[in-house]
Amino acid sequence: MLIEAENLHKRYLLKRSEVHVLRGADLRVASGETVAIIGRSGAGKSTLLHILGGIDRPDTGSGKVRIDGEDLYALSGAKRTRMRSDRIGFVFQTYHLLNEMDVLENVMLPARAAGHPQQPSRKRALELLDAVGVADRVRHTPLELSGGEQQRVAIARALINDPVVVLADEPTGNLDVETGESVLRLLFTLTRDRGHALVMVTHNDEIARTCDRAMRLVDGRLV
Ligand SMILES: Nc1ncnc2c1ncn2[C@@H]1O[C@H](COP(=O)(O)OP(=O)(O)O)[C@@H](O)[C@H]1O
Ligand SMILES: [Mg+2]
Repeated sequence: MLIEAENLHKRYLLKRSEVHVLRGADLRVASGETVAIIGRSGAGKSTLLHILGGIDRPDTGSGKVRIDGEDLYALSGAKRTRMRSDRIGFVFQTYHLLNEMDVLENVMLPARAAGHPQQPSRKRALELLDAVGVADRVRHTPLELSGGEQQRVAIARALINDPVVVLADEPTGNLDVETGESVLRLLFTLTRDRGHALVMVTHNDEIARTCDRAMRLVDGRLV
């Protein structure tokens, strides 16, 4: 199993109230498998994905996340950061690109952070940008791109280090049908051919059906 998440709980404490978003969510994803997460807005899909990706931790004393055999939240902060950069590709719902860098630099950033050599990283970045259809925008900054273009750059960035686990939060939410399909084909091909794992949040039932499995987040659990 590339992803094993067990009994995840997450509460957000607000001034006057508490939101108990995840209430014992479990998820296992095997090598080569693509899984869709569906559920209504506010169900906790992004929260779940952030926890799977080592970005936001589950409540203390509750739950466990293993990625590629490593207990994510038992690792030190530095090791978890390293693990994220080497083995997890994350596509944020809101892209999170850096506006002071151009497209190519944004995509190459995780490779640089992981200490990979410049030239092969640059070549791979250009290939990925070509594969997602924004090769003619490499010197633009994110602010000079449409939402759909930013989304595709964020996908290329998530794939630059060839991660074994890709977590994507509504990765085609801002793309037209045709572009969305081609981006999904790329994600599916990489996952299946390389025996990696893909977990994708989507609100589109048709897209969910193209995954090997679809799980619905209801009352804080995956069913
Ligand atoms: N940082 C936060 N602080 C407080 N509440 C939050 C925070 N992040 C998310 N929530 C709440 O948790 C719930 C789930 O949010 P989210 O995971 O973004 O849902 P989804 O992605 O399914 O739409 C929402 O009700 C949201 O208001
Ligand atoms: Mg969300």
